[in-house]
Amino acid sequence: MNRKEKEEYLREYGQLKAEGEPFFPYAVAHDGIIAVVIMAIIIVMSLVLGAELGPKADPTSTTYVPRPEWYFFFLFELLRIIKPPQLVPLATIGVPTIGIILLMLLPFLDRGAERHPLKRPIATTTGILVIFAMGYLTFMGASAGSPNEIEMKAPAALAGPALVEWEKGRIVVGQSGCLACHKIGENGNDGPGPQLTHIASKLPEAAIAQTLRNPTAPMPSFKNLQTESPEKFKAMVSFLGQLN
Ligand code: HEC
Repeated sequence: MNRKEKEEYLREYGQLKAEGEPFFPYAVAHDGIIAVVIMAIIIVMSLVLGAELGPKADPTSTTYVPRPEWYFFFLFELLRIIKPPQLVPLATIGVPTIGIILLMLLPFLDRGAERHPLKRPIATTTGILVIFAMGYLTFMGASAGSPNEIEMKAPAALAGPALVEWEKGRIVVGQSGCLACHKIGENGNDGPGPQLTHIASKLPEAAIAQTLRNPTAPMPSFKNLQTESPEKFKAMVSFLGQLN
């Protein structure tokens, strides 16, 4: 901005200031009215449409897999992408905090007088990149596989009833919450339990079944599953028995 532009700006500013209305009470009143209207709309919507609360919380559940609200999907996705545990705090707390601090410092860092987005290439590019990155991460987080589903191809050797059993086991294991503590292929969490991707090469089926009935804490026992639906338990063990 050169001197001439600056003078012009100051003249325009002085004129507008002389003609305009003061912030208090005019602008404050406008903002206040809009805030009240929006509150009223939200109250009416919650009365008419109701609020989605989800199923009742079950404090005894050991297999609940929490999912964040949609506006935290970008952080959730960041957490899923970042594998080394030492980097997780940096990525999920460090990066957003640094971003917020930078935003607060922006008026002190960027002393340029230009306001048009096209004349502020660094700020505009950064803004677009951040919005794009957050949008992308939100999309990826939202479309990430369900934590109760195992995405995996059946071993090529399986066919007929064995394949049906494997499919059934894949679904049962997914729905039993094992992924909260175990990683199976690309699915689930790496810990607190060991990876199960190659469990069959370590434990025979009988030992797997024994672990499910009589696990070491914090793993919950799946003894009840065996008594309540033995065929599900069997399918689960067959599926795990193919992970070699
Ligand atoms: C609350 C967390 C948790 C859940 C849920 C869980 N496990 Fe585990 N699991 C563990 C832990 C921790 C261990 C290691 C125990 C130990 O120290 O021996 C383990 C061990 C195992 C082992 C033995 C692994 C080995 O290498 O010896 C198998 C097999 C296993 N789990 C299968 C399952 C299956 C199948 C499910 C779901 C039906 C399941 N687990 C659910 C935490 C869990």
